[in-house]
Amino acid sequence: MEKRRNLWRYACLSIVGGSLALGLSSCGQGKPERVFEPSYFDLEEREYFPTRTNIPDNNRLSTQGVALGRYLFYDIRLTGRYQADSMLSCASCHVQEHSFESGLDNPLLVDGKMQGIRGMTTAHAMLPLINLAYNTRYFGWNGSREYPSANLEDLVKATLLDSTEFAGHADSIVKRIAAIPMYPPLFEDAFGSETVTFDRIASAIAQFIRTLVSGDSKFDRYLRGEAQLTAEELRGYVLFTTEEGADCFHCHGGSGNVLFTTYDILINGLDPETAFNDPYDRFSVTGATSDRGAYRVPSLRNIEYTAPYMHDGRFSTLDEVIDQYSENVYYSPYISPLMHHVNDGGVQLTPDEKACLKAFLLTLSDEEFIRNPNFSNPFVQDTIPASGTAVPEQE
Ligand code: HEC
Ligand code: HEC
Repeated sequence: MEKRRNLWRYACLSIVGGSLALGLSSCGQGKPERVFEPSYFDLEEREYFPTRTNIPDNNRLSTQGVALGRYLFYDIRLTGRYQADSMLSCASCHVQEHSFESGLDNPLLVDGKMQGIRGMTTAHAMLPLINLAYNTRYFGWNGSREYPSANLEDLVKATLLDSTEFAGHADSIVKRIAAIPMYPPLFEDAFGSETVTFDRIASAIAQFIRTLVSGDSKFDRYLRGEAQLTAEELRGYVLFTTEEGADCFHCHGGSGNVLFTTYDILINGLDPETAFNDPYDRFSVTGATSDRGAYRVPSLRNIEYTAPYMHDGRFSTLDEVIDQYSENVYYSPYISPLMHHVNDGGVQLTPDEKACLKAFLLTLSDEEFIRNPNFSNPFVQDTIPASGTAVPEQE
């Protein structure tokens, strides 16, 4: 609010200073003149992060756009106005302290998946909302949306309309948001006029989620020469990045690929009996037999915070995941050729090696990120909770 008032003051000053011909009457009397001057900014450059982003020219990041997007991200009134139907915001499922995944204690978590507004469950377990601005390949577990034909703006709209998530209608969402007094001025600051549209809602939310950059883990500090890894963590790092070790790096990156995913879509050797019967796998997108049971490789950043794991949320702990890769890898005809140890049933780690690998994975936790106040709920807690019961608005 303080910022907005300052912006108004600035608008008046610039009219006084810049163009006396406009007259001074607009300042000090009646409704102050507002100028559309979004403060554009670029994502902070990180030396070892990719330079390519999916930020479109027509939706550059601005302080005002991000601020609006943050309110919308946390606003349960996106789903409804009154108590009975006002239960969900993006943040009900995407929780900051879980790297914008659900967390195991989330009341909406049902058998590894999430329960949307109509009580239906989502097709898959959750994905975290981190470093999305750098994803220039596939979105979603099955990659059904592919950059650049689809971008985050499209994904936000799809989420708002999806029957298993918000099950919303574009027109009613727009009407609801436009009727909340705080919003039209925020749209004016972000987009130049008070008009609320579905496109603008999606653009603002996309701006906010593009600012969710996670790159301050202990491993990042190690890469920057600011921290040392312990002997155990270092040994885990070596295991992670060697073929004769745990052999994770081909798919999940490492020092040369700091997003900790290649975004490839493939089969990593889960039990086909249970992993190949999902109607929304990669096969549902391409129709190719070789894609049955294939999923996008998830990032391992903040993996400590994002249980449950895998597309169906089958594992609750990293120990279970490590055991899976160590001794429970299943052969299937189209398993990724990068699963080099499939004939041995996995990479066969000793208990000691498992502990080191886990210690390394824990160095990917970014505590600064999950506590960053810029990403938290901007509403005063007792006005609009991020989930739960909404306060009916007055009109
Ligand atoms: C009911 C829980 C739920 C709600 C509410 C929800 N999401 Fe999601 N979100 C998910 C699930 C589950 C996935 C994984 C979908 C998949 O690929 O099958 C996901 C995936 C995503 C992705 C893709 C991430 C990637 O790496 O490809 C984005 C972006 C996203 N959500 C943004 C949002 C936004 C923005 C909102 C609010 C408008 C929102 N979500 C609300 C459950 C939810
Ligand atoms: C051949 C490529 C490949 C290799 C090698 C590989 N993974 Fe994966 N990983 C994947 C894919 C694909 C998924 C998603 C599979 C699914 O959900 O069905 C995945 C999922 C995961 C997940 C769950 C992430 C989440 O958010 O749910 C973790 C943790 C993980 N891998 C860790 C590792 C570790 C540790 C290693 C080395 C021991 C490794 N992976 C080796 C491809 C690979």
